[in-house]
Amino acid sequence: MTTTTAGVVGDVKDLTLAPRGKARISWAAKDMPVLELIRQRFEREQPLKGLRVSACLHVTSETANLAITLKAAGADLVLCASNPLSTQDDVAASLMADYGIPVYAIKGEDEQTYFKHINAALDHQPQMTMDDGCDLVTVLHKERADLLGDVIAGTEETTTGVIRLRSMQANGVLRFPVLAVNDSDTKHLFDNRYGTGQSTIDAVIRATNRLLAGRTLVVGGYGWCGKGVASRAKGLGANVIVTEVDPVRAIEALMDGFRVMPMVEAAAIADIIITVTGDINVLDHQHLAALKDGCVFANSGHFNDEINIPALEALATGGHRPIKDFVEEYTYGDGRKVYLLAEGRLVNLSAAEGHPASVMDMSFANQALGAEYMLQHAKELEPRVYTIPADIDREIASLKLSAMGVKIDTLTKEQEEYLAAWESGT
Ligand code: ADE
Repeated sequence: MTTTTAGVVGDVKDLTLAPRGKARISWAAKDMPVLELIRQRFEREQPLKGLRVSACLHVTSETANLAITLKAAGADLVLCASNPLSTQDDVAASLMADYGIPVYAIKGEDEQTYFKHINAALDHQPQMTMDDGCDLVTVLHKERADLLGDVIAGTEETTTGVIRLRSMQANGVLRFPVLAVNDSDTKHLFDNRYGTGQSTIDAVIRATNRLLAGRTLVVGGYGWCGKGVASRAKGLGANVIVTEVDPVRAIEALMDGFRVMPMVEAAAIADIIITVTGDINVLDHQHLAALKDGCVFANSGHFNDEINIPALEALATGGHRPIKDFVEEYTYGDGRKVYLLAEGRLVNLSAAEGHPASVMDMSFANQALGAEYMLQHAKELEPRVYTIPADIDREIASLKLSAMGVKIDTLTKEQEEYLAAWESGT
């Protein structure tokens, strides 16, 4: 447990890290102009006044700016980590010490502490949840159902979380309306593609310092995240192979210029493998058994189950040892050595700093405006998964363009009428 001099209670690594965290938060803020505009309006209008919010997000400098925005809106906010390895300890310290926001998050926390922290955030008796991966909402429904009566609505950040929520909805167990932030165009088209693309490659390079040019790099999954990773790796000169289960996405990958083949063939020729599918055992026993000596592999999907680590351990009869931060060497029975990054946890937030602030600006603008929207409309909403209205999505895009100093055309009256008419043609 950690308590600040002002009496804010949470659980962070070390409050003396706060000055460094504060500087990082301000650095991210410089690239989050849309969120800053929202913060200014929220400060004037107080749309979340007194609302108890429990947020389970990656505790990064970008999330800190969202937390500051929610607090400016009047929210009574508690924050916990949405992954055991993604917390920036200095940022967590600053949020507590400089901004008076209770934080329960320590980088490298074990699974038991991770869930203890989620429960601490739920002890806040939330009226609104803000989740990234749906762990908070799952624990709330499975173990803390006594708290559900207070919950008005929630928001969910990521693809994996939205999939879990839709499953809850289909099974009739979801008890309050949740906004799928990931479904906004201004979220997935930028955060998933350019954010995951850049930060994943950044993490692989930071952890390994391997040259990508001329290397065979396999991307498992060609959703928006996979598209981003593949295109960035190609840009650095890697020879990229894509694996897919969806025939349409496989054609997209082919026509984008990538080779496509089953993972078992790709794994045998890969220098580097990155999984971004959101599914389990994408690198399973048969794929791990096929790896070449020296192969490096990592996961950038939300959960650490895309790589079958028990299977890897079974193959590594020669044992395993850390080589450097976030690089673990596994020695197979025949002497081959292969390298797992960041324990198979999402590598971009574990071994690097997650998505750059510029894309999180739009994602978190969706979170902030989404929270306001859900509160305003909670009475009309059923316990289902919702998407943010298109006009809010477009407004975020317009604000972003204007912050970037980019102007675009508008439809003339004549063009509007033409688009609305069915009579005209050749
Ligand atoms: N998810 C991916 N990147 C992130 C970041 N920088 N902050 C918070 N959540 C993220």
